[in-house]
Amino acid sequence: MDAERDARWLLQRLREEEDLRPPYRLQRELRWVTQATVLRDEHGSLTAYTELRKHLFAVELTTVVVDPHHRGQGLSHTLVNAAVQSTAARPLILFTRSAALETAVARAGFVQRRIWNPLTLSSVGARALMRCGRMLMLGDVRKLWAQVAHIAAFRCWVLDDEKDA
Ligand SMILES: CC(C)(COP(=O)(O)OP(=O)(O)OC[C@H]1O[C@@H](n2cnc3c(N)ncnc32)[C@H](O)[C@@H]1OP(=O)(O)O)[C@@H](O)C(=O)NCCC(=O)NCCS
Repeated sequence: MDAERDARWLLQRLREEEDLRPPYRLQRELRWVTQATVLRDEHGSLTAYTELRKHLFAVELTTVVVDPHHRGQGLSHTLVNAAVQSTAARPLILFTRSAALETAVARAGFVQRRIWNPLTLSSVGARALMRCGRMLMLGDVRKLWAQVAHIAAFRCWVLDDEKDA
C-alpha cells in the first residue's frame, strides 16, 4: 500500500474535522498511519482510520474517522471492532461527543465511565494541552475553539470485556 497516499488522506481529515487532533508533519503522520487500524475500499484507498495511544495505565482509542464519502454505512462498527481486536491492552478508553461514535462503541462493549486513575487522567490532560498548543501554533482557531468550547460534552468510554459485544 502507498503509505504516503494514506498519510495525505489522514492529513486532509485532520484539517477538516474539528473534533480530531491537529495534524503534524507528513513524516510523523507516516509513522502513525503504518501503525493504525484502517479499513480500505476495493481499490485500496482508506475508508476509515483509528489510532491507539498509550497513557499511564491505559490505552486510548483516538482519531476515529470515516471518509466523508463512506459515512452512514456502518463502517464505524467494523473499525471500532477491528481496533479492539488489535490490542490486548486494558483499560481501553475513548473520548467523544459524537453520537454516531457513541453508538458504535457502546455496541462494541464500551460503557460510559469516569477515569478514576489520577495518573491516567493527568496523562490524558497533558496530551490535550499539547494538542491545544499545536492548534495555537498552527493558527487553527476554529478547531481549538470547537474543542475547548465543547469540552464538557466529551464523555469517557471504557471497554468492558464482561459486556456482550
Ligand atoms: C463519527 C464517525 C466516525 C461515524 O462513522 P460512520 O461510519 O459514519 O457511522 P456509522 O454509519 O457506522 O453509524 C454508527 C451508528 O451511529 C448511528 N448514528 C448516526 N448518527 C447518529 C446520531 N446523530 N445519533 C445517534 N446515533 C447516530 C447510526 O445509525 C449507526 O447505528 P446503527 O448501526 O445502529 O444504525 C464519522 O461520522 C466521522 O468520521 N466523523 C468525523 C470525525 C469525528 O468527529 N470523529 C469522532 C472523533 S471524537
